[in-house]
Amino acid sequence: MNREITLEKLHQRTPLIAPSMLKCDFGNLHREVELLESAGAEILHWDVMDGQFVPNLSYGAMVIKSMRDRTNLIFDAHLMISDPENYVDEYLAAGCECITFHIEAVSNPAPLLNKIRAAEAVAGLAINPGTSISEIEQAIPNCDLLLVMSVEPGFGGQSFIESSVDKIQQLRNQVPENMLISVDGGIGLQTIPQTSVAGANIFVAGSSVFDTSDYREALFQLLELADRKTTI
Ligand code: DX5
Ligand code: ZN
Repeated sequence: MNREITLEKLHQRTPLIAPSMLKCDFGNLHREVELLESAGAEILHWDVMDGQFVPNLSYGAMVIKSMRDRTNLIFDAHLMISDPENYVDEYLAAGCECITFHIEAVSNPAPLLNKIRAAEAVAGLAINPGTSISEIEQAIPNCDLLLVMSVEPGFGGQSFIESSVDKIQQLRNQVPENMLISVDGGIGLQTIPQTSVAGANIFVAGSSVFDTSDYREALFQLLELADRKTTI
């Protein structure tokens, strides 16, 4: 892995729609990855839940690794887990080019962000709806990506929390220009334009992709609204 190359790819291709694999058909995981790739997806968002940091359990590094040799898409691991410092090595070994953990799960994020960067992955820090921006401010220089949760983490299919738009806007105004800002939760045709206008450039989409029968059309419509930066 080469962090500079991944960052360059990401910056060149934004706005990006990142399908959230939490919502895929796990009985056909390989097929789902193939379908997304042929639909034009460029990045896959892997939601990792431990039943402790969030009240739900999903999958871990073993499952992600099993897909690594089957696609060249960028792997973006969203670790909704306690003690992420104990597990990051597994996600690096699984070939995740981007690794994001939660500010609420650590006392000092900088060492782990630095470790992720030193291992040539893109370092991301996620912030829950109830956590204020001041909690992450100090760590911003150590981050390549900030992930703004626009629902309480744990489940797909929840309603978008409107105050996330202001949070994205505030972050966009205070971070370096090249910071990637991802928004995750309740992203669909109705909510993507406002988050794009506010300054997000990676849009995690679960239900709005997987609850449709045509992934290509779903990605296209979302991207068009993200790109156009208008409201519908
Ligand atoms: C929620 C996850 C999200 C979720 C998105 O905890 O981090 O990635 O799967 O799903 P939708 O788009 O359905 O809100
Ligand atoms: Zn996520």
